[in-house]
Amino acid sequence: MQVAETVDEHPAVLVTGGAGYIGSHAALALLDAGRRVIVLDNLVTGFRRAVPEVAVFVEGDIADDALVRALLAEHGVGAIMHFAGSVVVAESVENPLKYYDNNTARSRSLIASALAGGVRHFIFSSTAAVYGVPSDEPVDESWPTRPANPYGTSKLMTETMLRDAAAAHGFNYGALRYFNVAGADPAGRAGQSTQGATNLIKAAVEVATGKRDSLAIFGDDWPTPDGTGVRDYIHVSDLVAAHIALLDRLEVETATSHVLNSGYGRGVSVREVIAAVERASGKPLPCHVAPRRPGDIAQMVANSDALGATIDWRPRFADLDAIVAHALHWERTIGAQLAD
Ligand code: UD1
Repeated sequence: MQVAETVDEHPAVLVTGGAGYIGSHAALALLDAGRRVIVLDNLVTGFRRAVPEVAVFVEGDIADDALVRALLAEHGVGAIMHFAGSVVVAESVENPLKYYDNNTARSRSLIASALAGGVRHFIFSSTAAVYGVPSDEPVDESWPTRPANPYGTSKLMTETMLRDAAAAHGFNYGALRYFNVAGADPAGRAGQSTQGATNLIKAAVEVATGKRDSLAIFGDDWPTPDGTGVRDYIHVSDLVAAHIALLDRLEVETATSHVLNSGYGRGVSVREVIAAVERASGKPLPCHVAPRRPGDIAQMVANSDALGATIDWRPRFADLDAIVAHALHWERTIGAQLAD
């Protein structure tokens, strides 16, 4: 699929992992903002049909230097949003080298290609898992980074490479440390189609639609108000809107990079998620208490003051019912068709 060569205000944006959950929403948001979008995805976990029709799609790997450098030049890419990677914490414990390969080594290749291709701005999907150390209070960006698993370490290493490469080579970057991303495009154009997803809200809406029998509550004896795990769930559309606003910022203030938490600063328990799914579906959600999941922590909530202060961003869907309703809508409709 070709896009006509036009002289436009903004150079094209390369979206790695643009056939995946968050990347496909980012591609849509960039297109909505009038940007040209090139999606690069190896389709290992992503779906070709998740890529918006009007985006240029290239099937390939971020570590294929010849391919990446050619497409940066061909499309006049000025910025990269890097979503491609592996995201399952438990898998990272069992197979750490996969994570250091997919998330760290391949990111290093991509950064090197970006430098070679003169890309000026880079936005990276980082994670709250870089903190590792649990906290009863919302954590801000000065909280110690001591990842508790290879997933978090693999992402933190990429943050470090970006920091050092930006200092040496004069591009700027933003690393967004995602808390718990959930929900789906409110217009139903995109959603999460990940197979065998381990995320709570995805698992819960799969139970609500009969794709799973029962939701396991991983522990009800945590030191939290109702005994279940507390997290800061951010709507995927708000999250990708933060990426767009951050890119605008990086393009204006070209000497400054940012590492920012991405959450709402609000803790929600597993039982509160279950209640929201029951409200959205209008029926009880089959669930059972199971042992704590290895590596889980009681609570992780963002202090996102810096995000709001740095970029022009106001959340539009900071409401658990909206997040769950959009996730459930996707699960009931288009989600099933993508996952074949
Ligand atoms: C972790 C990572 C996050 C990563 C995500 C995706 C940390 C701090 N965060 O989030 O960066 O993007 O994994 O893999 O490491 N739960 C249940 N039943 C379920 C599923 C989950 O009770 O079937 C509970 C968990 O115990 C937890 C909460 O729901 O309390 C959220 O779990 P999940 O959605 O898997 O995300 P995290 O583990 O918080």
